[in-house]
Amino acid sequence: MRKPIIAGNWKMNNTAASGVALIEELKPLVRNVFCDVVVCVPAILIPAISEAVKGSNIKLGAQNMHWAKKGAYTGEISADMLKEYGVEYVIIGHSERRTYFGETDETVNKRTLAVLAEGMTPIVCVGETLEQRINGETEAVLSRQLSLGLAGIDRIKKVIIAYEPAWAIGTGKTATDSQANQAIGFIRKKIAELFSPELAEMVRIQYGGSMNSKNCKGLMAQSQIDGGLIGGASLKAADFAKIVNFDK
Ligand code: PGA
Repeated sequence: MRKPIIAGNWKMNNTAASGVALIEELKPLVRNVFCDVVVCVPAILIPAISEAVKGSNIKLGAQNMHWAKKGAYTGEISADMLKEYGVEYVIIGHSERRTYFGETDETVNKRTLAVLAEGMTPIVCVGETLEQRINGETEAVLSRQLSLGLAGIDRIKKVIIAYEPAWAIGTGKTATDSQANQAIGFIRKKIAELFSPELAEMVRIQYGGSMNSKNCKGLMAQSQIDGGLIGGASLKAADFAKIVNFDK
């Protein structure tokens, strides 16, 4: 069986002080849980949060990583910089990066390959826009994002996919349980096609987009959904803890 994984995506929120306070509040609330718990924090908060999560079951994640080892890439962050602080997960290709910062399927692929080569776990985000859904293009968009984004990967088992329909992110409009389950089922079918049916059964696929303490149970009860990537609701310890404890 696939172990559920609940990851918070703080986006551009919190400071070191408020982030550490959030982690301190969170730690006792998520201590005895069955799923993997991750917080993906802004790069500059990584040293502080790395200290704060020490000795707990909360794992540390970043929100982006460059594929080059080092060099003249102003504003980017390298694998060594992340690994020095114990970062284990990296979100790649979030729709906000695709929309506002020119991320493409090709750069998603380069970053994903680099994260794997450096021994960390990529959380690769895919998902359609509202317009694409209305036009019936959801499956075509997911197919393209997966075949280009995951090209050349030899450790697909280690990759986590996050299905995040852009129209559900930060809008309060969650995909229904069955919409999310259906899209994630399609993603698994596509992975089976690109890799193998056996491997596809092992890959963990999260849902993301206005997932919260109220709708998490229904989403997590779906057969294809193995976890959540949580934005807004990861910024309050009590809310995030409820999602992490979805099975209680
Ligand atoms: P949201 O964000 O939960 O605030 O909709 C999810 C995400 O973008 O990862």
